[in-house]
Amino acid sequence: MANRRDLPAGFQWGAATAAYQVEGAVAEDGRGPSIWDVFAARPGAVRDGHTGELACDHYHRYGEDVELMRGLGLDGYRFSIAWPRVRPSGSGAVNKAGLDFYDRLVDELLAAGITPLPTLFHWDLPQALEDGGGWLARDTAYRFAEYARIVVDRLGDRVPAWITLNEPFVHMVYGYALGVHAPGRALMLDALPAAHHQLLGHGLAAAVLRERGHQVLIANNLTPVWSASEAVADVAAAAAYDALHNRLFTDPLLLGRYPDLSAYGVAPDLGGSVRPGDLELIAGAGLDGLGVNYYNPTRIAAPTEPAGLPFAEAEIEGVPRTAFGWPVVPDGLRELLVGLRDRYGTALPPITITENGCSVDDRVAADGTVHDQPRIDYLAGHLDALAAAVAQGVDVRGYYTWSLLDNYEWAEGYHQRFGLVHVDFATQRRTPKASYGWYRDLMTAHRVSHGR
Ligand code: FCB
Repeated sequence: MANRRDLPAGFQWGAATAAYQVEGAVAEDGRGPSIWDVFAARPGAVRDGHTGELACDHYHRYGEDVELMRGLGLDGYRFSIAWPRVRPSGSGAVNKAGLDFYDRLVDELLAAGITPLPTLFHWDLPQALEDGGGWLARDTAYRFAEYARIVVDRLGDRVPAWITLNEPFVHMVYGYALGVHAPGRALMLDALPAAHHQLLGHGLAAAVLRERGHQVLIANNLTPVWSASEAVADVAAAAAYDALHNRLFTDPLLLGRYPDLSAYGVAPDLGGSVRPGDLELIAGAGLDGLGVNYYNPTRIAAPTEPAGLPFAEAEIEGVPRTAFGWPVVPDGLRELLVGLRDRYGTALPPITITENGCSVDDRVAADGTVHDQPRIDYLAGHLDALAAAVAQGVDVRGYYTWSLLDNYEWAEGYHQRFGLVHVDFATQRRTPKASYGWYRDLMTAHRVSHGR
């Protein structure tokens, strides 16, 4: 049995957060409104009307948070940069005070011996760009590349590697197809241009970053797709779902083409958005690493209504569930990674797990501790599965757990706790959970076994 302690020497251990989920300070130092400020203010959009107005107040407490990271012994910290802090209306004037915040954060991380791994877009689009069509508008891709240049010009002397986008699949589907995330548009398949324009933005930004000698990754939400049965109709439905969830966001990057979406009645130009030369831009910039966000597999059956989408989601039975209700299937991570290697072969760059973790109904006990054994079990199981994939020859360079802190979980508000550190949102008190000590000890044991 592969064991997490056998992960290769030099393996990067990390934890992740995202700007809107932790920073707060939404109206400070010149930050412009983002689509999440506007969406969260809409009655009924987010559970209990929660917003990211204060979140973990990380904008003011980043020093304390970096101390927690230092105590943990992280090699790397994945955070995101809020585009509306840097360029409040998405185009036009740059807000120096916004960049100053990330400058301070990067310096603080480096002083603690932690490598910063920033994500340029983790869903908080400047509202002014949304008013011009958001990611449905081709122009947004060009604005994204400009923003990337502004950020790298300021932080690039200290930041070696960058993640362009976080989960373009989830942003397109939840934000533009179903409307359960910002910007709250429910366009179903008419949302597909938002996929292409995000990928185009990735390609344009990646070119800027790589020209300057930086490493570039993208963080994709990927899932192993299980057919509900061997029946031809279920297998076809699973393939259609795989095309939408996984291939749509990875084939263009690694193979320079979109997958076949004919099961959806969609032509290869994705609603007319793909122009000649675009795929060359998307694939041509190259990727130094593929970021994989893994939470659970997906089970798919043939649709029950012939007129709608070409798949139906089926329950995964007989496995534990997180507090969020997500199925816990650690081996799905090994299956996913081995599947990527088999699918893309030599076109697959090294992989970094950029998110993996679970929500637990954590409470601070009377003795002041937080016993999050389900999280420890989740992390241990997934790290063993990761080690199994490495033993099967998959090149995985690092693991960033989601998340460092309990934070604003999008449409669930503050109801889902994913952190290694408990946050009391009324007092902003941070309490390291049992998983924090467990992760710290694992990293130490791994380093010691490799003489680091
Ligand atoms: C991912 C998001 C991240 C977090 C986790 C639980 O889809 O990228 O921001 O919300 O889910």
